[in-house]
Amino acid sequence: MKVKSLMMLFVSFIVMSVFNYAAKPPADEATIKNIKAAITGESTASAKYAAYAKKAKEEGYNKIALLFEAASKSESIHAGNHRAALEQLGVTMEKVTPKFEVKSTKENLEDAVKGESYEVSTMYPNFIKTANKNKVNIALISFNYAFQTEKKHKVLYQHALQALNEGKENNLASKYMVCSTCGNTYDGEAPARCGISMTPRDRFVTIE
Ligand SMILES: [Fe+2]
Ligand SMILES: [Fe+2]
Repeated sequence: MKVKSLMMLFVSFIVMSVFNYAAKPPADEATIKNIKAAITGESTASAKYAAYAKKAKEEGYNKIALLFEAASKSESIHAGNHRAALEQLGVTMEKVTPKFEVKSTKENLEDAVKGESYEVSTMYPNFIKTANKNKVNIALISFNYAFQTEKKHKVLYQHALQALNEGKENNLASKYMVCSTCGNTYDGEAPARCGISMTPRDRFVTIE
């Protein structure tokens, strides 16, 4: 009898735990919404920069094309990280359809500076603040990787725009290295370890 009661107690405990786990709402609705917005933003940026790279090549700006290609790769890494974070929180992402317009390379660079500036000054600081407040660690890591990288993208695009305006496109880098962990982007050779995620250089992607 005693064994039977213990068995019953054990079974109810398992049933209750499974029910509790299944019924548990997502940890933090605001952060989940932010991760989804970040996936949409990064997926769109990746597709957009790939299209801008093609356009730059058509216009004969091969070095600016390289920068767009490197940034496109980087944004796809951010999108992948954000997706992984969302999966860890047990949430599925809806299909993303990137919407953007390809103009002249000069206008595309201006658009890129604008996009990166928004991410650096508004979007990621807000997302990080919320994830930090609600202690969603996986989102914090993913947001931070993107935030630190976008700061560098902003500067790289500003330099490229200046070079284009001054007819000095040839002075731009002819090689970029992108960290496969965090998307960190170096114009030229990467250091032995990524400055953001400590990833060894042999796990970087080279664009040249
Ligand atoms: Fe970026
Ligand atoms: Fe990294």
